This record gives sequence, structure tokens and C-alpha cells, in this order.
Amino acid sequence: MNVLGIETSCDETAAAVVAATHEPGRPWRMRSNVIASQVEIHREWGGVVPEIASRQHLRDICGVVERALHDAECGWSDVDALAVTQGPGLVGSLLVGVAFAKAAAASLGRPVVAVHHLAGHIESIFLEHGTIPLPAAVLVVSGGHTSLYLVPEVGVYRLVGRTRDDAAGEAYDKVAKLLGLGYPGGPALDRLARQGNDQAIELPTPRFTHPDRNPPPADLRTVLSAGPEHVAEFSFSGLKTAVVRHLQQRGVAVGTGLSVPTDAGPLSPSEVADVCASFQRVVVQTLLGRTFDAARRLGARSLGIAGGVSANSRLRTDALARGAREGLPVFIPALSLSTDNAAMIAAAGLRRLERGESSDLDFNAQATMAIG
Ligand code: KG4
Ligand code: ZN
Repeated sequence: MNVLGIETSCDETAAAVVAATHEPGRPWRMRSNVIASQVEIHREWGGVVPEIASRQHLRDICGVVERALHDAECGWSDVDALAVTQGPGLVGSLLVGVAFAKAAAASLGRPVVAVHHLAGHIESIFLEHGTIPLPAAVLVVSGGHTSLYLVPEVGVYRLVGRTRDDAAGEAYDKVAKLLGLGYPGGPALDRLARQGNDQAIELPTPRFTHPDRNPPPADLRTVLSAGPEHVAEFSFSGLKTAVVRHLQQRGVAVGTGLSVPTDAGPLSPSEVADVCASFQRVVVQTLLGRTFDAARRLGARSLGIAGGVSANSRLRTDALARGAREGLPVFIPALSLSTDNAAMIAAAGLRRLERGESSDLDFNAQATMAIG
């Protein structure tokens, strides 16, 4: 079975063909994976402009799908089913992929399956590694999300915790912007961090130490039976503020949000690298501390990390080293499957199709949606 996956939730127009192999250890094979990135277009604005993103998806979608079919050496008649990101994401962007997939499914007379974007990120781990020991604790860490899931069996995703404010990738992008590193800042900050001293600047480790005025929603309360309720929750906005304070003390003119510094003012290149390294140390330690702790409490037999920030060099190295030390196998997708792509959406679609599920043609794009 060949599934054509389509992903347009943010600023990447992506299409891919993934085939079912029926081999138990490695049930899926990626036949193509095409991504048209809009990053050069949005860079000028310092972030994604939703209206521009959806118009660009419209321009790119046909060519990207044709290329994915061509690379997979497939014709339309070889497509057995379609999978498309339904949400969460930018609704105008999502609509382009959803409308395209529904129209293709209707004209081909093939099933279409609506996919949750984060289910796609989780399945990128299975697409890369085949089967992994379950239950697994999976951290999805991207520009829009920092969420921890328990995967008790294949295709089942139970939300265990998430960020209370900024996503980790968002914090990366905002701090990079303050340092004049451009957009998207995560990869640039990661590169500079490797040259800096990660102990140079004292930054607070985000934690919840006070009685909770904003307790987690009821759906999150029962999953972790032991320990404080917020054991698997994250928060990054305080860390970002601590970086702002440090920069202000060093004389950097930090704007109120709208202004985009083009450089880090009085900071020398080595001081910028030190800020990057120190920030990266705290983010990675926080992400891994909570994820390994939750994995232990949940009795997980493996740990997965997916989403754009899983491309981070220190997160990858430290996670694998800690997993080896603690005897917990760690699985991370290849860099090409870490950031947004359609192969992961095809894989998540295959997961649902294998359970006999598909979607009626009246489903719609959803800016926010629960995983199911
Ligand atoms: O998963 P993704 O492509 O899109 C969302 O679903 O959000 O993630 C994009 C995010 C951006 O915030 C980007 O800065 C971050 O992933 N990112 C990184 C790295 N590569 C991408 N963050 C830190 N280090 C990296 N190497
Ligand atoms: Zn994503």
C-alpha cells in the first residue's frame, strides 16, 4: 500500500510517499520526501506571516506533490490512500493541504485520513527506527509545541504534560532574535552554542516550586499517578526573560517585542556564543530532566524525542548519552524527519489505515485540536 502524505500546517509545503512493507520489524518504507520551505520568504519579516504562508502553499502544492510522486516512481494510480495534516497549525495554511487531499481522494476514489500534526512527529520515530520497546515516553519539541506523550501501544498517544507558556523552539527563536541571529533562530543559536562556554552565564532552571494558581487541566491529572501533578510540565518564558535581563545589563538595546535587533550591540562574538551555550544548556537539561523523570515514573521501556528542536545537536548528544548511562534506549529521527515533513504524516496515516480507520470527506482544518 502506498500512502501519499501532505503537510502544510505552517511554512513548509511537503508531500511524501510511504509504503507499507508488511515486515514486522520495519513496517514502513519512505519512497519520497519533498519539502518546499518558505523560510527565505518569512525571514524578511522575522517570523511566519500566516497570510503569506497560505498563499505560498497554494503556489507550491501541485508541484511538490508531482515531485513526490515522481521521486517515488509512482503515478496517481499507484496511490492507495492519502493522509493530510488536519491540525493544529495555521488554519489558512492547513486548508490548502486539506482541500488538496480531499479533492485528490474524491477524484481518485481512494480513502483519505486526517492526521494530527503531533501524531506525525511521534510516528517519525517509528518511520526511522521501525518498532521500538513500548511503552515509550515521547517528547515532541518544536516551534509550536513542547508536549510529552506516553505511547503504551502503537498508534495510541496519551498526553502526559506540556508547556505552560512558550514552546522550546519558540524560546530558541525569540532568544536568537534578541541576539540578532535572524529567523529561524534555533539552528543558528545551536551552531554558536557549540563555540561558547555553557557555564558563563547563570540562568534559572525553569521549575514549579510554588503552590499552583493554574493547575493543569483535568485531562492531564490522572496520567502520572505518582509525584506532583506538574512533574511533566514545562515553562520557558521565564528563561527568555532572564536572557533579556542579562542582555539589558550588558547594555544591549532590547526592544519591546516588535523591534528586531540586527546585531547584539556591545556584545563581542564570544559573549554572544556564551549566551547561546548557557541558554542551550538550561533548555536541554530541563527537557531531558523532566522527560527522563517522567519516563521512569511511567515505567517506559524506551524514550523518543521528535519535532524540530530534536535536530538540536546538544539535545541529541546528551539524550543518547544519558539513555546509555541509565539503560533506557533513546530513539530520535534523522535530521530530515525532525523538522516538518510529509513522510511523518503519511506514516501516521498508515497507522490509522492499518486499524481500518479513514475520514469522511467533510472533515475540516482545525487550528487547535486534541490528539486522538
Ligand atoms: O517541527 P518544526 O519544523 O515546526 C513546528 O511544528 O513548529 O519545528 C521548528 C522549530 C523552530 O522553532 C526552530 O527554531 C527549531 O524547531 N529548530 C531548532 C533546531 N532546528 C530547528 N531548535 C534548536 N536547535 C536546532 N538545531
Ligand atoms: Zn511540527
